[in-house]
Amino acid sequence: MQVKSSKSPMVFKDVRGVPVSYPDHRAIDGLESAVLMSLSFRGDAIAEIDRVLEEHPDFMMGWLFRAGWLTQAMETRVYDSMLASLAQAERLIPHCNERERGHFEAVKAWVEGDFFGAVQKWEAVLTRYPMDLLALELIHYTMVLLGDVPGQRDVVARVFNLWDESIPGYEFVLGFYSFGLEENRDFARAEEMARHALSIRPDNPYAVHTVSHVMEMRGRQAGGIRFMRDHAATWGTSNFANHLWWHTGLYHLDLEQYDQVYDIFDTHLDSRNKDGHKYEELDAAALLWRMNLVGQDAGDRWTHLANKWEPAAQDTLYAFNDVHAMLTFVSDDREDAQKALLSANERYLENASDANVAMTREIGLPFCLAMQDFHKENYAGCVDRLLPIRYMTHRLGGSYAQRDIIGWTLLEAALRARQFDLALALANERTGIKPTSAQNWRAVARAFKGLGDHGQADRADARAQSLIAA
Ligand SMILES: [Fe+2]
Repeated sequence: MQVKSSKSPMVFKDVRGVPVSYPDHRAIDGLESAVLMSLSFRGDAIAEIDRVLEEHPDFMMGWLFRAGWLTQAMETRVYDSMLASLAQAERLIPHCNERERGHFEAVKAWVEGDFFGAVQKWEAVLTRYPMDLLALELIHYTMVLLGDVPGQRDVVARVFNLWDESIPGYEFVLGFYSFGLEENRDFARAEEMARHALSIRPDNPYAVHTVSHVMEMRGRQAGGIRFMRDHAATWGTSNFANHLWWHTGLYHLDLEQYDQVYDIFDTHLDSRNKDGHKYEELDAAALLWRMNLVGQDAGDRWTHLANKWEPAAQDTLYAFNDVHAMLTFVSDDREDAQKALLSANERYLENASDANVAMTREIGLPFCLAMQDFHKENYAGCVDRLLPIRYMTHRLGGSYAQRDIIGWTLLEAALRARQFDLALALANERTGIKPTSAQNWRAVARAFKGLGDHGQADRADARAQSLIAA
């Protein structure tokens, strides 16, 4: 562990006592400001660090923050910029300290496609410097991207006892820990920790996000809507607003309030007149597909979304992106784009050996093919593709709430394929996990109806109705 304070005037440190080799506090303060922007989803962290680097071109940690933060975009459009930042950092290696070398090696592993190796390098930095909030942030988010569910929680647990409220940024550590706990189904602790984080900084969108996940996983739709709308003034202006509106839409969807879902989509998620980036289009596609599963007509919304995704059809950078691109191509009947995405992925699987290969092979491609089957009304084919992978979907990355689209598609395909025994089993599974979801009871009712048990079907429908009315 690092020594938190030193009398030596030669050692420069950030506000948490982590050593920085560049001997200028203005640069170190500028980096802190950029890191805070990234943590609070406010402003433009890259523009902020660019301002610092313009004045301090030899500030290695500035370049490493820039490159490290760009890794999280998971988009090809930022790759050149990320590589350029890494090259600047490489130039400064002879003057760097051990921590900076660790950050450098992590980003280097990342650009070589070794995402898991990058995490290990950042982990080594964090073990040595538990107050390195940037390392903690990058590891936690990367574990979410990679679907390392216990890791999202445990990376924070490993340092949490060393932090307290007197250390700047503690509320963000609480935010990370709360989300890691939520994804590991420790809902009570997760919510408590997220609300603690919000008591320190009410405009912390990541802590709002944890509460929204807890509400989602526990099926507290009305409470979720209230919480999100009561706090929308603080998170609605953040860079995380799009995803948080998606969460709000999920509650309405479960309550069959479809007008409100489309109102949220059209007001907050539809980026046809905006410069939407992929993360925003991910949520938009995921919400529209769910509306498709419940039989709601999307109008021309898919067309605009598919236009946004089509340039990324052959990226093969991240399977999670590819499945969302495919959702739009399938739903908008874009045969050429579907072919382009599938053949790019097949070529990629033959030639590459990076971390995304396994994600694509095991989950990404099977789900893409299953979506095609679903859209062509080959529902039995869709079931055959999804049934064997439904317990491995965490390998795709993202959250439980996001990946639920796969399990829900499987269930809907089983119902439409008239495989009612299987549909009932899958619907029972879902009511077991989330008994307060009206949609889950609707599926139980449809399965019973298909099996000819109208008494049970009516009981399940009544249960859905009572949840909606409540
Ligand atoms: Fe989320």
